Amino acid sequence: MSDTTKYFLTEDRMPKAWYNLAADLPGPVAPPVHPGTGQPMGPEDLAPLFPMGVLEQEVSQERWIDIPEPVREVYRLWRPSPLIRARRLEKALGTPAKIFFKYEGVSPAGSHKPNTAVAQAFYNQQEGITKLSTETGAGQWGSSLAFAGDIFGLEVEVYMVRISYNQKPYRRALMETYGATCIPSPSPNTAAGRAILEKDPDSNGSLGIAISEAVEIAASRDDTKYALGSVLNHVCLHQTVIGEEAMLQMEMADSEPDIVIGCCGGGSNFAGLAFPYMREKLKGKAIRFIGVEPTSCPTLTKGPMAYDFGDTGKLTPLMKMYTLGSGFMPPGTHAGGLRYHGMAPMVSSALEYGLMEARSYQQTECFTAAVQFARNEGIVPAPESSHAIKAVMDEALRCKAEGKAETILFNLSGHGHFDMQAYTDYFAGKMTDVPFDDAALQASLADLPKVAV
Ligand SMILES: Cc1ncc(COP(=O)(O)O)c(C=O)c1O
Repeated sequence: MSDTTKYFLTEDRMPKAWYNLAADLPGPVAPPVHPGTGQPMGPEDLAPLFPMGVLEQEVSQERWIDIPEPVREVYRLWRPSPLIRARRLEKALGTPAKIFFKYEGVSPAGSHKPNTAVAQAFYNQQEGITKLSTETGAGQWGSSLAFAGDIFGLEVEVYMVRISYNQKPYRRALMETYGATCIPSPSPNTAAGRAILEKDPDSNGSLGIAISEAVEIAASRDDTKYALGSVLNHVCLHQTVIGEEAMLQMEMADSEPDIVIGCCGGGSNFAGLAFPYMREKLKGKAIRFIGVEPTSCPTLTKGPMAYDFGDTGKLTPLMKMYTLGSGFMPPGTHAGGLRYHGMAPMVSSALEYGLMEARSYQQTECFTAAVQFARNEGIVPAPESSHAIKAVMDEALRCKAEGKAETILFNLSGHGHFDMQAYTDYFAGKMTDVPFDDAALQASLADLPKVAV
């Protein structure tokens, strides 16, 4: 049907395996390195923090990794997610481009994050773990892990970046609804939190600080492990269920993307949609990939590729990635999930190998795009996802100017129903664009660890 708007897969066509881009990248992804010894770290070294089930995936070179049936069973609560053609937006823009999006806002938490939360909770439960600690920025990840922990009978403790904790009380209520505990970070519960509070009692917090707190809790208890909502290879892997579904749905639409777009915080929703298509690019298909980030936290567009800590307290292994330095404190913007100093090593590799492009936008122009999207497509996007939408609109307008009927596919990573304060601020003219602080970046980069690998 030529005027179809939504493309649904039946549940029996939901992918049975995740796709691992590591098997097809032109070279290896650099391993994590011990900050003390400078030596590469293997799964055994990371075992105090993560279950073996995910650590095996972290280092796997296998192209396909089976999705366990208990995980698929939970996925079926909302997956396969719809692929939607943004016909009304195309018309409003007057573009000859076709715009498709994968809508991950249909999940219980309202974003792509449960795709990995469910898998991680499953592997922890399999190995007898009873409690998980984690951080959350916007609250999407915390509520996803709260949901997944509840399903698999695990206690969940979430350290939530303070600015988001204050902006989004209902995210905390959602976590509590699923039975989790939510603590504003920095907190007095941990040495990492106390150190920050001593220097700055009014600290807004950051994902880097919240990670330090959650890691410290997990490292200090045998029954507790840590779960990360982005960045790591296994997280990107779990998210590829999005792209694998999208490929089947784009076939139903008799279309192939010329451009694939996603917003980038730690890189996982972008990876989830893009990596399966990068496999096709590596086989010779001409597809452009665009990762979109905030101008206030421009990891891919302004950071160097370097070994760095994943957290502010310098507790994690060093990862080779694009980074703004683990001490970089992004200003408090509404896209809390994009306020992270580093980028997934796999996404960083993809950029380094020239497989993708990156660009950044200010938050107000993203909200302008988000409102236009909502008024045409009905869905109110999460502030993070609005970055992808802004890039989509710019590309669609370029197509219009050049008279090109390209096909654009993007990941609408979540809805913004818990982010209405941000929209209220936008409508009240209270949203500001903070100019990027280059001096702060240089100071933060001067502190990058020296690694001779
Ligand atoms: C809706 C939404 N999109 C995107 C992101 C960014 O994370 P990632 O880059 O890992 O997809 C977040 C993180 O919290 C999010 O909540």
